[in-house]
Amino acid sequence: MTKEKPKEGAEPKQEARIDPWSSSIQIEDYARLIKDFGLEKFDPKGIPNPTRIFRRGVVFAHRGFEYVKRAIEGKRPFAILSGLMPSGPFHLGKKMVLDQVLYFQGLGADIFLLVADIEAYATRNVPFEKAKDYAIENYILYYIALGLRPDKCQIYFQSKRTAVKDIGYTMGKKVNWSTMKAIYGFGDQTNMAHVFSPLVQVGDILHVQLEKYGGPRPTVVPVGVDQDPHIRLTRDIAAAFRFYNVMKAKDGRIGVFVKVDEDVDKLIDLAKATVQGLGFKKMEAIPKYKALYVNDANESHIVTIDEALIKVERERGGYGFYPPCGTYHRLMSGLTGGKMSSSVPQSAIFLTDSPEEAAKKIGGCKTGGGMTIEEHKKHGGRPDRCSVYELFLYHFIDDDKELAQIFEDCKKGQQLCGQCKKLAQEKVREFFKDLKEKKEAARDKVKEFLVDD
Ligand code: TRP
Ligand code: SF4
Repeated sequence: MTKEKPKEGAEPKQEARIDPWSSSIQIEDYARLIKDFGLEKFDPKGIPNPTRIFRRGVVFAHRGFEYVKRAIEGKRPFAILSGLMPSGPFHLGKKMVLDQVLYFQGLGADIFLLVADIEAYATRNVPFEKAKDYAIENYILYYIALGLRPDKCQIYFQSKRTAVKDIGYTMGKKVNWSTMKAIYGFGDQTNMAHVFSPLVQVGDILHVQLEKYGGPRPTVVPVGVDQDPHIRLTRDIAAAFRFYNVMKAKDGRIGVFVKVDEDVDKLIDLAKATVQGLGFKKMEAIPKYKALYVNDANESHIVTIDEALIKVERERGGYGFYPPCGTYHRLMSGLTGGKMSSSVPQSAIFLTDSPEEAAKKIGGCKTGGGMTIEEHKKHGGRPDRCSVYELFLYHFIDDDKELAQIFEDCKKGQQLCGQCKKLAQEKVREFFKDLKEKKEAARDKVKEFLVDD
């Protein structure tokens, strides 16, 4: 892997960049992140029966979830696409991607899960042949063991799916080197496979909207927030291939703007007929601005108008991509401090760990407790800075009341770290014992999930 650090000061916005391939990224302040990156706060009240990670704000932000929310409410089709790099074992930090996917599968989404073997080859030196067996043994079997169902679900390898590579290449037309450098910090030493790998990810995210894979529809990409640069890039590119852009104009009106240069008048006419078909009556076309203003629409109509125009684009041979949306979970901290990462085995609990190995790691992990028991009893602990508490919060305690009790008792100094660790070890042993059995049972089912092309 060649990964260079850009020279200091070379990029004006360097602090405000997330490097998706860094193994040390740790985020202290999620509220700040939302602000700095223009994310939106995820509101669990907006979705039906939110599961643990949604209820507790572990999934804390999104980009563009409205389209998906409407599809859920209207019981219309939507897709989920996500994936992981098969480099290093599957750990609890990555499991949250699957926890999100499982929730959306429960709502009836079409599920696409990918093995990012091209990305692993390009950025982590993992050979393709090794990636295949590795991914099955260390990832896919666990997806099934954790509850992934085969209905409306396909798992594919990036390297095997022609449409992903083709569309990735095609999409590359709408992004230039200067943007790639600004987003990812690429430079003269970056190898070209690495440079191309974000476009393969764009291909992953957008190919599900090709006719063969179900056509244009809202798509959620549930990921860790470190993946946001890819989501932003994909949203920009998807928009760049659209014929229309629907937005609130400077004067406050809702405008439909034609983004291409051919057949502008025709496209305005078609937009007019389409918007009329939706029941709007007061329109003003200004061909000079390539615009159609819909005077009796307001912001809440943007999605509806846009969806209708997507159909028009498709009929005229455009891609008509829905803007893909990202939902973001927090990154788990490592048991030893820092980020939970495959490259630091003690920092992470791997799903491949034996129950004893996992329990042992918990025994030695960093907590938010006081320096001494006396001090802890007197001043209380910091559950918000505690790896054991995180294990409960993210994975091992489902009952919100039980969790809240631990939080309170810890802060009052009435719960001791030893007790917590013991409880965590019990829960983890049980979880891992059950998981091992389910993993073995999953072996015969793998075939039902794999779809190459
Ligand atoms: N980049 C992701 C990772 O590092 C893997 C990935 C590839 C992915 N393509 C994707 C994730 C599309 C979500 C959507 O693990
Ligand atoms: Fe963490 Fe429990 Fe110790 Fe509190 S008492 S700091 S939650 S281990």
